Amino acid sequence: MTVITVFNQKGGVGKTTTSLNLAAALKRHEQQPLLIDLDPQAHLTHIANIPVNSSKESVFGFYQNNQPLATLIQDAGGLGCLIPSHLELAKADTLFGKSYNIVTRLATGLRAEGLQQAQKTVVIDCSPMLGVLSLNALFACDLALIPISTDFLALNGALQVAKTLKALEQVLKRRLPRRFLLTRFDKRRKMTRQILAQAQAQFGDDLCHTTIAENVSVAESPALHKDIFAHAPNSRGAHDYELLLDELIDAGFVANSRAQQTETPRIDYTQSPRLVYTAR
Ligand SMILES: Nc1ncnc2c1ncn2[C@@H]1O[C@H](COP(=O)(O)OP(=O)(O)OP(=O)(O)O)[C@@H](O)[C@H]1O
Ligand SMILES: [Mg+2]
Repeated sequence: MTVITVFNQKGGVGKTTTSLNLAAALKRHEQQPLLIDLDPQAHLTHIANIPVNSSKESVFGFYQNNQPLATLIQDAGGLGCLIPSHLELAKADTLFGKSYNIVTRLATGLRAEGLQQAQKTVVIDCSPMLGVLSLNALFACDLALIPISTDFLALNGALQVAKTLKALEQVLKRRLPRRFLLTRFDKRRKMTRQILAQAQAQFGDDLCHTTIAENVSVAESPALHKDIFAHAPNSRGAHDYELLLDELIDAGFVANSRAQQTETPRIDYTQSPRLVYTAR
């Protein structure tokens, strides 16, 4: 089981969009991903159109009532499975505190329940806050995926995350693998080019080769309760999220479910427009 935590303390950078479409790409890749909505705003739960009648039916039940994670899993169709969120989660910091046992609770739960038997990849969507829930997600993960929206002050949020991960190293006793992902990428804009250059200088090999283009279909699909592949499979956004999954597979973060099927052509992400563009 690989756990990917999609996190950035900055809001509106594409965390939920990336969680949604990465899970959908994984599902298309013959995996059965498990999405965990750890954001009290419950955007992912709403997009997946999962009804949650009480907080007990959400991940809140795991923290508040020790409900096993497996009992909270719902079928989210083309996204795989989802453990939904609930507004009540906003009380998590006040109710549970930030002791070591609490911040490692999700990691312990995922391991103890052996969810790795059924779920090859877990994708956790975080809120834009470094509270107890985001710490849970970071302590549980094998990879922190940090979307950076290519707009004003984009790098500030990402540098803040880098500082947070540095501080966590002392507790984890290792460097947490991470990938920074540029989203809403519009190569025609001068600011995009500047942010790309700064991100390359700051993050080096931790910066994804793949970029997610600014794409109207990506923006539209959540309102239709759809991921990008269900809404616009031939769109630039669908292509980019497929490239992202390929890159994560090539880097060894995600198992290659199609490894046995050698005739399946793989996309070469190194041919992505961003690299063509940066070579100029
Ligand atoms: N590649 C893209 N092209 C166009 N619009 C996008 C793209 N990625 C995200 N968006 C839009 O940007 C907005 C913010 O995205 P999203 O909700 O994924 O961010 P977030 O980081 O999860 O926000 P929050 O911090 O509030 O949880 C949404 O309206 C989304 O549709
Ligand atoms: Mg979100």
